[in-house]
Amino acid sequence: MTQAAPIRPEQFPLARECPFSPPAEYAELREQEPIAKVRLITGKWAWAVSRHEDVRAMLSDPRFSSDRENPNFPVMVSGGRLRPEGEKVEKSLISMDAPAHGPARRAVLGEFTVRRMEALRPRIQAIVDERIDAVLASDGPVDLVRELSLPVPSLVICELLGVPYSDHDFFQKHTSTMISRVATAPQRFGAFQAIEGYLSDLIDVKEQDPSEDDLLGRQILKGREQGDYRHEALVAMAFLLLVAGHETTANMISLGTVALLENPDQLAKVTADPSKTLSAVEELLRYFTIVDTVTARVATEDVELGGVTIRAGEGVLGLGYSANRDPEAFEDPDALDIERGARHHVAFGFGAHQCLGQNLARMELQIVIDTLFRRIPGLALAEPVEKLAFKDEAAIYGMHSLPVTW
Ligand code: HEM
Repeated sequence: MTQAAPIRPEQFPLARECPFSPPAEYAELREQEPIAKVRLITGKWAWAVSRHEDVRAMLSDPRFSSDRENPNFPVMVSGGRLRPEGEKVEKSLISMDAPAHGPARRAVLGEFTVRRMEALRPRIQAIVDERIDAVLASDGPVDLVRELSLPVPSLVICELLGVPYSDHDFFQKHTSTMISRVATAPQRFGAFQAIEGYLSDLIDVKEQDPSEDDLLGRQILKGREQGDYRHEALVAMAFLLLVAGHETTANMISLGTVALLENPDQLAKVTADPSKTLSAVEELLRYFTIVDTVTARVATEDVELGGVTIRAGEGVLGLGYSANRDPEAFEDPDALDIERGARHHVAFGFGAHQCLGQNLARMELQIVIDTLFRRIPGLALAEPVEKLAFKDEAAIYGMHSLPVTW
């Protein structure tokens, strides 16, 4: 089957069927060809893995590499690779394999424990309250993306890292270019260099007088104490945390709000009993799976997966959104059911690279959902869902704007 497998007609990444549904082909793939050869937008091909069980097996198998610099790594953007070939790259955590990955991850893991995040709760609550005060101070309608969804995670990650929030327009603009599937490769690389240069300058300054009060300062102090501090490595880490820390959660806040407004029976359960919010957050993460194709890999040796032999050097896409709508793993998977107990979803990935910021993302989403619907019980969409601007062209799904009234 391996070599003879046909390449399917679709071109990946596929468009979502609607804001609430994965590409229609995902169900077909799961049923008919759970590990299928597919064509990528770059003209190359890769294996698409669509069942929950197989996606988890793939993501926890160290024979699949996360090295995004590997020329065979499946790239899902029309302009191809982000960096020009031959450009020297300082790998960040998300691109590392064993044995480098473990120590690099452990070096920052302590910053993201549940306990550490709980200590941030009062500050995050204050940030959310301030943003909602600002919403309520206007006559409406307001764009919730601009007033709440983006500023909350952006303020939180900036404070955590020690990056001035006053520069957020600069890095938000460049981040959205970088993850855009329609920007050209030089545009995306230019945006990457702009943020990298900005962070390198910022870390230069912090190196003069590192502070225990922010993550970057603490990393400098700890690295120096251990004798393994490297400027470039911290720039790469800061870059990843800054980008991953606001684009993702911001989009989940907007999408989660729309989904709850469109499913008033589910919203009523959350507002009646806030102890259900955390399980609603898990369900919303599953339901949207905003980072669907980032969980790609390249095989470093021949691997048998779901009865198919994937050869060394072949690219593999773990279709998280398909896994999260797999009826073998979730009953009635296309329904939004905040009480289903969706913790085994793969919206944060799985295995060694499972999202480092997941405790932070969960807490931000929980606080926003609780506070938003408690303080603005009459919240409503200012335009019908069909008219809203969803990010169909971005590697991370989300919303460009979300006009609301109350
Ligand atoms: C709803 C919000 C979020 C979603 C859906 C999400 C999703 C993901 C996914 C799917 C991965 C795995 C990538 C892979 O296997 O190749 C990942 C990794 C990662 N995420 Fe998140 N993420 C979110 C929020 C955050 C936040 C808030 C931060 C930081 C503060 C963060 C930092 C990271 C980092 C550093 C990694 C790489 C971990 C490693 O390679 O060991 N993420 N995320």
